[in-house]
Amino acid sequence: MSDKTDNLFAKPKAALPFSFDESVAEVFPDMIKRSVPGYTEIINNISKFAGRFVTSNSNCYDLGCSLGAASLAMSAGIEKTGAKIIAVDNSSAMLERCRHHIDAFKHKTPIELQLGDVQKISIQNASMVALNFTLQFIAKEERLNLLENIYQGLNSGGLLLLSEKVSFSDDNIDDLLIELHHQFKKENGYSDLEISQKRNALENVLLPETLEHHINRLKSAGFSSVSCWMQNYNFVSIIAIK
Ligand SMILES: C[S@@+](CC[C@H](N)C(=O)[O-])C[C@H]1O[C@@H](n2cnc3c(N)ncnc32)[C@H](O)[C@@H]1O
Repeated sequence: MSDKTDNLFAKPKAALPFSFDESVAEVFPDMIKRSVPGYTEIINNISKFAGRFVTSNSNCYDLGCSLGAASLAMSAGIEKTGAKIIAVDNSSAMLERCRHHIDAFKHKTPIELQLGDVQKISIQNASMVALNFTLQFIAKEERLNLLENIYQGLNSGGLLLLSEKVSFSDDNIDDLLIELHHQFKKENGYSDLEISQKRNALENVLLPETLEHHINRLKSAGFSSVSCWMQNYNFVSIIAIK
């Protein structure tokens, strides 16, 4: 499937908050690859984590699945039989395209799509959960609840993979890594106008926290082994094992 180029913010436009609507869903694969350093590496590694952590006859969850890239990666990596992947998103535009995307790629583990809020779903008999750049869109005061719900639904030894855009308490580091991220976007063909308009649209929608905050909260939710396994500028991916 060829990716449609993201030029949603190329022309001056009224500053509306960013939302995962049809226009975003249409260009999403191109948008995320050109905007998130390390995204492809994380997706590739989700397959490897699935190969190690997914057990027979268990459930895997892809929370905030967008077009299903993490679900397809899990499916490609799962080595055990009888597992099922449940992919959840509350954007009907995303989920509609996810259905076509998933049908277009071969996948050996079944993927069930659910339109709904990740904060309201029941998680059961899980061996792996992916929150790949989704928690950052949940209200900060509601994040611990969601992580506790994931923890209680994971089997012992199960894995949560959490990827997020983060902030830094040291202003020098924060400014530097934001600048390097913007440079990454410029090198991927985005103009200064596109970068600044998208940044404004995401203000108050994507709410980053520090890596330390994420790690401490995962421990508070009950996870015993927690570590950042990848950092690329101000984007990180964390593993938490029950
Ligand atoms: C940055 S995208 C995630 C990318 C995707 N996980 C991947 O690996 O390609 C964030 C997604 O989370 C979804 N989302 C945000 N808040 C949600 C919620 N409360 N419940 C379900 N989905 C949510 C959005 O609709 C969007 O598709």
